[in-house]
Amino acid sequence: MRAHVVTFGCQMNEYDTHAIQSELAGLGYSLVEDYHDADLVLVNTCAVRGKPVEKANTLLGELRKQKQQRGGHLTIGLMGCLAQLPEGQRMGKKFNVDIMLGPGAITEIVPAIEKGRFQSFEFKSELQFYSPPPPQGAISANLTIMRGCNHRCTYCIVPMTRGDEVSRPAADIIQEARALYAAGVQEVTLLGQNVNSYGLDLGTGMRRKHLDGYPSFGALLRMVGRTGIPRLRFVTSHPINFDDEIMEAIADTPAVCRYIHLPVQSGSNRILKRMAREYTREFYLERVSRIRQLLPDATITTDIIVGFPGESEEDFQQTFALYQEVEYDTAYLFIYSEREGTAAQKHFDDIPKAVKTERLGRLIELQKQLSLQQNQKWVGREVEVLINGAAVEEGFVQGHTRGNHVVMLEGHLPPGIHQAQVLHATPNRLYCRAVGADAPLSQAHIKGGRSLPILPTKGLS
Ligand code: SAH
Ligand code: SF4
Ligand code: F3S
Repeated sequence: MRAHVVTFGCQMNEYDTHAIQSELAGLGYSLVEDYHDADLVLVNTCAVRGKPVEKANTLLGELRKQKQQRGGHLTIGLMGCLAQLPEGQRMGKKFNVDIMLGPGAITEIVPAIEKGRFQSFEFKSELQFYSPPPPQGAISANLTIMRGCNHRCTYCIVPMTRGDEVSRPAADIIQEARALYAAGVQEVTLLGQNVNSYGLDLGTGMRRKHLDGYPSFGALLRMVGRTGIPRLRFVTSHPINFDDEIMEAIADTPAVCRYIHLPVQSGSNRILKRMAREYTREFYLERVSRIRQLLPDATITTDIIVGFPGESEEDFQQTFALYQEVEYDTAYLFIYSEREGTAAQKHFDDIPKAVKTERLGRLIELQKQLSLQQNQKWVGREVEVLINGAAVEEGFVQGHTRGNHVVMLEGHLPPGIHQAQVLHATPNRLYCRAVGADAPLSQAHIKGGRSLPILPTKGLS
């Protein structure tokens, strides 16, 4: 039997896909590259915006056709966030899907496949966590430490798809991190919708910290940092819980990369309130200045929603000004997408598409300009690069710094950690040359190791 899993959405879905693939292999399935060759196709969906929903819709239509052509000999599974929603359940019926499995019951995948027709959407905390074996040959790996979300941002579907927050016991997390490191993984990313709310999920101010086995997020970073993994990352942090204890843990723990993704969504207090983000512009900026103070050189990135209902030109300009003030390294910029069942859909009117697109365009321009300015600060400096093999440009291998800048490294160095010097920067890349033990035999070396002046390499940008 042959299986294929299609993945849409965020890293949490990638992690789930990896876990599902391990389960499939355990059931005797071979995993094939092309879904046309598979007897079982699972679609791990995302519902956060209209686009990924459309993609799932198109794919399911394609699969239904395949199934008809094969006289019904194809099992189709709809998994992930869409499966949990009325919208996804309508799609499941429409496309005659065999298996429907929401994220709250993901570990029921084996009985689901064995039964052939199966539906499960109930959130059960004990059914939400896998400890999948390390991905083979991977240099970087994800590790989910909590699931769900206790916030209720008015635009967002995630609390409906992923349920309330559930943290995983620290001992399981440490064990999985150790297994990843032992398998050769050099970089682990701790995942959660609000990763820094780890351990806070007993509600009403009661911290699980008071229970055995659930430290605070800061303490967890220190613990995972001691496993020996060279690089430790985490996404996504909610500004409201990004406290000094976490910053201090990052500062004290060499493994933790100084890369902080801190979604702001809007720079206008009026819109933040409508979004129910629970913080003000001033609170957010205070957190950023504290990061700059305790973690100089940290990369700071964000998520922004452009054109939330009621966003005026003035509100947008406040977002624009906040972007300039923070000097983000980069950002994920989204056009507001109305989601069925959210508070924003019920209470507010969407604004015209042309207005949203025009504002997005202005923000993209600012992003390019600032990303270039931020990247240029690294020219001439030495950085640590993790090469993950993929070469997208002739004569280079691709990797990323601890701050998550994409690096093009000259030559053909093997996957792993290397030291390099930044020669040239573009808005989205740092072009580098290896130094130290990895350095190519160059003039600089022959003369006794002193670097020659750095000149931008021709033909780049
Ligand atoms: N839990 C994380 C990420 C949630 S989803 C957080 O709160 O930061 C990732 C991003 O998608 C969000 O940060 C937001 O910028 C964007 N997003 C969520 N719902 C959206 C919607 N309805 N329309 C447009 N963007 C949305
Ligand atoms: Fe969605 Fe807000 Fe929760 Fe993030 S914090 S997942 S944006 S509800
Ligand atoms: Fe999408 Fe679900 Fe992730 S809605 S962004 S796959 S949590």
